Amino acid sequence: MQTIVTAHYEEMSQLAADQVAAFLIKKTNAVLGLATGGTPLGMYDRLIQMYHQGKVDFSHVTTFNLDEYIGLSKDHPQSYAYYMWHHLFSHVNVHQENVHIPPGVFEKQEQVQRDYEQAIERAGGIDLQILGIGENGHIGFNEPGMDLEVATHVVPLTEKTIQANARFFTSIDEVPRRAVTLGMGKIMQAKHILLLASGKEKARAIAQTVNGHIDPRIPSSFLQLHPHVTMIIDKEAAQELQEVSSV
Ligand code: GLP
Repeated sequence: MQTIVTAHYEEMSQLAADQVAAFLIKKTNAVLGLATGGTPLGMYDRLIQMYHQGKVDFSHVTTFNLDEYIGLSKDHPQSYAYYMWHHLFSHVNVHQENVHIPPGVFEKQEQVQRDYEQAIERAGGIDLQILGIGENGHIGFNEPGMDLEVATHVVPLTEKTIQANARFFTSIDEVPRRAVTLGMGKIMQAKHILLLASGKEKARAIAQTVNGHIDPRIPSSFLQLHPHVTMIIDKEAAQELQEVSSV
């Protein structure tokens, strides 16, 4: 696990965008796994700027998002589909047919889960998975528990996650209680993982991810088993780490 500590959020975002751009220059038809939440917004902004400057091209890129709230249609302003189109896809030249986001409204849950995994397999798997991290160490919406699910699945959100995500809604009552998420299997099968974290609220989870035991109660700790993880985190998120290298 390579850990890069930056001075602040802006530097984290720039470095992350630079790494994604470098990846896309090397592999123009890369399959990207994408995350939502507040953390990657700065990186997405910079990727849009780089696209406008002709430095990065999404025309052959395929994307798979990690997760979606159950019950929110793709037009709902708090859905992750809306987020992705608003904050990235509408501003770059990615083709709509190459964009994949798990649906939040569906009839047959098992079918949706199976189709999503099969689409990833058909695309050849995820080349670069972007991850944020929850304060409780969740990745995607793989919440802490006594065990973790390998496959794409529907998950009840923990109280902590509901509270943390309430800031994006008018009231906490509006936060959906369930989500569909890529399981740990497809995340761990990604060829490269780039995890971003900013702020002291993430410091405990980051320390547990890097220095702790591998424990399903800290889902991100499983990343220790992955051969190609880069974490770009700001110094507040790094403050509980035992050993760090700074840029
Ligand atoms: C949500 C998402 C995660 C994200 C996490 C952290 O729960 N499902 O993919 O990493 O929140 O979000 P933030 O970056 O806003 O702290």
